[in-house]
Amino acid sequence: MSHDVSSRVMSGAEGSMATPIWKGRLTFIMAASGSAVGLGNIWKFPYVTGENGGGAFFLVYLFCVVGFGIPLLMAEIGIGRATRKNALDAYGDLSQRAGRHSAWRWTGGVAILTSFLVLSFYTVVAGWCLYYFWLTVTGEFSAADRITQSFTSQTFDHLLSAPTLLIIFGSLFLLATYMIVRAGIQGGIEKAINWLMPMLLVVLLILVGYSISHGSFSEAAKFLFFPDFSKLSLNAILVAIGHAFFTLSLASGSMVTYGAYMPSHASIPKTAIMVAVIDTLVALAAGLAIFPLVMEYGLAPNAGPGLIFMSLPLVFGHIPFGQIFGAAFFFMLFIAALTTSISLMEPSVAWLEQKSRLSRTQAATVIVALLWLLSTAAALSFNLWNAPVFADRTLFDALDGLTANIMMPLGGLATALFCGFCLKGTQLRDMFGDSPIIKPFRISVRCIVPCFIVIMIIASL
Ligand code: TRP
Repeated sequence: MSHDVSSRVMSGAEGSMATPIWKGRLTFIMAASGSAVGLGNIWKFPYVTGENGGGAFFLVYLFCVVGFGIPLLMAEIGIGRATRKNALDAYGDLSQRAGRHSAWRWTGGVAILTSFLVLSFYTVVAGWCLYYFWLTVTGEFSAADRITQSFTSQTFDHLLSAPTLLIIFGSLFLLATYMIVRAGIQGGIEKAINWLMPMLLVVLLILVGYSISHGSFSEAAKFLFFPDFSKLSLNAILVAIGHAFFTLSLASGSMVTYGAYMPSHASIPKTAIMVAVIDTLVALAAGLAIFPLVMEYGLAPNAGPGLIFMSLPLVFGHIPFGQIFGAAFFFMLFIAALTTSISLMEPSVAWLEQKSRLSRTQAATVIVALLWLLSTAAALSFNLWNAPVFADRTLFDALDGLTANIMMPLGGLATALFCGFCLKGTQLRDMFGDSPIIKPFRISVRCIVPCFIVIMIIASL
């Protein structure tokens, strides 16, 4: 693999290998937004917004994004870029330079493990998307009289009960991710992202146009945007905190690792804001692509697999050009999942490549083999191995719960404390420039993030 020498820079410590850098700020923005925009934006955000008070919930969510999402995003990108290393060494290096305990590096180590575990079950769900793309393309959902609610739920149940289908489509998805990550930062991820992200946005806009013209826009807009403050319960606020965290891909090493490849001249605060704005706009657009159709057909708006794999195929089975737009929808979902999974595989591959004598290809191969084993085991928890492995949960649910409820909140808290109390002022200025944002950033990582995460952890217990 040959990298353009002029675009390589030496990383801080002597003797360490040069880290490849992306061509421009735009590539970084697309890669980081690609990580952030995923299944969470499409199947979760629209629903939780509508369900928890529409516009009122959206205001709380925006507060969370501004109050701690963007600051944590800045922190992670900054930690990566300041060191140009894998997440473990990035935290390690910075704590050493600040004269602090080297144990801080485990914040990065746990983050790498988090991305690995998230990818193992994300692969399973992404495999479902790929399978549904296949079903729509081959016309499985296009004979209107056959497509009933029981047909679509049987189709989904059949998938979940078939180990071979789950393994085949999960493996195909993992293979696609592997091919891209293996080819490196510039030759693989940058090239792929430059194609995939524009494609994702174009398909999404076409779907929004189609949905607005064929569905009931006013009902969907009311569900999504009408501010109903009576629905804004304490639980709704917790959902907003959790979702802001999840949707920005925080505390999993992805943003630290991508930050290591960010060009030195790009402004981190501005870039972090752009990523959060794109992520939020895509989530709103996803709502406008889905709900007008779902409501036009009198179906209840719900969240998760039920919405995507049962309600939508039903709609696509009955609507004009449903086969084409259904295929476009599942293709979009596949791309969204792929750009996310790339960012989930990169932290462990970068770590292994830098810490061992393995080449990039070898490191990626070792990681993907381990991921394949774990994701296959997670897939089997829907059928052959449908048994509790931990605290009454199947392996799939345990991986989800462990990462979302424990590892990510604690990782976010550690990163905030690291930036708030461990790094020196000069280190922060090196990261962000002499920006007026440093003061509010400090307030956020010292007070707002810890408060919110402690509330979240207490509530989840
Ligand atoms: N942000 C992704 C989504 O909205 C999911 C996600 C959660 C994620 N945590 C992550 C992605 C960590 C990458 C890294 O679907």
